[in-house]
Amino acid sequence: MMEAPIKILVAEDDAAARSLVEVILRASAFDAVTCVEDGGQALLALEREPYDILITDLDMPVVSGEALIRRAREREPDLTVLVTSGQATVEGAVALLKEGVFDFLPKPFVVDTFAASVRRAAERVIENRNLFGQHEAIEVLMAALSRKDRYLKGHCGRVARLAANLARRAGLRPGRIALMEQAARVHDIGKIAIPEAILNKPGALTPPEIEEIRKHPVHSRDILRPVRSFARGLDFVYFHHERIDGRGYPEGIGGGDIPFEARLIAVVDTYDAMASDRAYRRALGREAIVESLREARGTQLDADLVDLFLAQPMPEHDDDGADSE
Ligand SMILES: [Fe+2]
Repeated sequence: MMEAPIKILVAEDDAAARSLVEVILRASAFDAVTCVEDGGQALLALEREPYDILITDLDMPVVSGEALIRRAREREPDLTVLVTSGQATVEGAVALLKEGVFDFLPKPFVVDTFAASVRRAAERVIENRNLFGQHEAIEVLMAALSRKDRYLKGHCGRVARLAANLARRAGLRPGRIALMEQAARVHDIGKIAIPEAILNKPGALTPPEIEEIRKHPVHSRDILRPVRSFARGLDFVYFHHERIDGRGYPEGIGGGDIPFEARLIAVVDTYDAMASDRAYRRALGREAIVESLREARGTQLDADLVDLFLAQPMPEHDDDGADSE
């Protein structure tokens, strides 16, 4: 498939510098280049069409580089920004980098350094495009899944929220919570590969059907494996049906061999399954749920995590499923 060209906007008031930048970019095979003379024109250009990379001078008439960056970012948060400047200080450059400017290119330009920096910026743009595509694909799959398995509608969103809440109370750091929340949201995505007749069967499942359904964590892992940004979350999805006593699936590992995040997802997943209507039974009442969770402590589920979960009043169960639409 042809990659869409990388669109670069250059804002530079000095005519000589502007044509030099344009020459370097074209020589580096960047063809979708637009050059403007000041920040005001740059803002107009950004309003007309989206750009991937902004290369801007700081010291410009009408709208300064700093103001341009700020306003461009409001419009296009993913815009990759390169700053060029003749008289910037080291402190100024560091401040810009801290604000998320991708690179700082002091004048006079060193052609090779300049070209290399733009190439790195272009790689970042392509990487972001891929990530965006992958996240969109997952959303589409989850929406498809909620139409196939009506009992799953809302389940994944609730499990993600409950898991994040429990993780916070367990003292996990925000980065770890975010990854686990993502994993919780997609943990059952592999059910897309299970026949609908099995997923929505009103009665008891036959042993071959049970075997089929138990493949869903494997399918989940395989579906999510190409998503590079999710590599560290794959195990949380793959092991969400393992049991502390080692009698779970797909691997039958037990205790501390099961990743903490997978044990945590298992607790809230089990809770939410009991609190929801399923094809084969109605939702359980609060007392029955508490009793079942207590029984599952240390056999099916991590005892400490069950205790932590039960230490707080049972969450309200909303069935609208708005989250997995
Ligand atoms: Fe599951």
